[in-house]
Amino acid sequence: MKPIRKAVIPAAGFGTRLLPATKTVPKEMLPIIDTPVIQLVVEEAVEAGCEEILIIVSRGKSALEDYFDRAFELEAVLQNKGKTDFLEAIRRPAQLAKITFIRQQEMRGLGDAVLLAREFVGDEPFLLLLGDTIVRSDDGQSVARLLVDTYAANQGAVIAVEPVAREFISRYGIVDGAPVPGQTDVFRLNTLIEKPEPEEAPSNLAVCSRYLLTPDVFDYLAETKPGKNGEIQITDALRQSALARPMFARQIHGHRYDAGSKLGYVKANVLLGLQRPDMREQLASFIKELAQTL
Ligand code: UTP
Repeated sequence: MKPIRKAVIPAAGFGTRLLPATKTVPKEMLPIIDTPVIQLVVEEAVEAGCEEILIIVSRGKSALEDYFDRAFELEAVLQNKGKTDFLEAIRRPAQLAKITFIRQQEMRGLGDAVLLAREFVGDEPFLLLLGDTIVRSDDGQSVARLLVDTYAANQGAVIAVEPVAREFISRYGIVDGAPVPGQTDVFRLNTLIEKPEPEEAPSNLAVCSRYLLTPDVFDYLAETKPGKNGEIQITDALRQSALARPMFARQIHGHRYDAGSKLGYVKANVLLGLQRPDMREQLASFIKELAQTL
């Protein structure tokens, strides 16, 4: 089995839901406390074993490239002041992995962005992580790592899924699958349905921004015609791939925070703040105090 060494992180979208901030700041650079969303996503890929990462960006998003580069002048200033914690923190992004960038010129959807990774990926399975979404499983395991393990056990592409409330089903790609005997939380996919009405949905398991894909997906993406809003949907290509070879879904027990939405962004800050030893206590008592006034 080929090890999973590569990850692709699409981060080219306009981020309109967070305007006006995203007029000049890419949504992936917005901080969760003090760390940009994109760094948390890169760290998840690295924890899962990836050494090479391609981030797909677009015009106006060069802050991402700068962030994963060295900052010699700032490093010198911090060094002189003896601020070693900050020095380490600003060096870390450039040390995480071999990170490269490619630009999507026209925002023609997630599928179009992923297709730009074809050359980078070559003939290997790869992780695909959306650059504006943070996913945490309750037991602390990296979701990307769970996908790597599921791939190792089944030798097929794996999509992370999570249960969603009935009223939200029509917002997501929903999977139709059957449990794999002997494997908890793993389903063999029959098909995927993009944004079905709740009464037509085969399950309440929604695709949740982490995928482990095989390179055949590029052939299907190249053939996929633009759908809604002129965008190339990755779900369409995945559905084709699932017809040709075994594909799996892995249910996640945890939380997904779409930091590209206003509420998701606030929730991610609160949740990750509560997990940090340097602020957990104070933040928790603030929340309790606040809850009494609501
Ligand atoms: P979203 O639809 O959440 O991102 O795409 P968006 O288009 O930036 O969001 P809004 O609606 O304008 O606020 C999911 C992921 O796909 C990437 C986004 O960057 C995000 O990581 N994406 C989307 C691209 O890379 N290119 C695209 O053309 C569209």
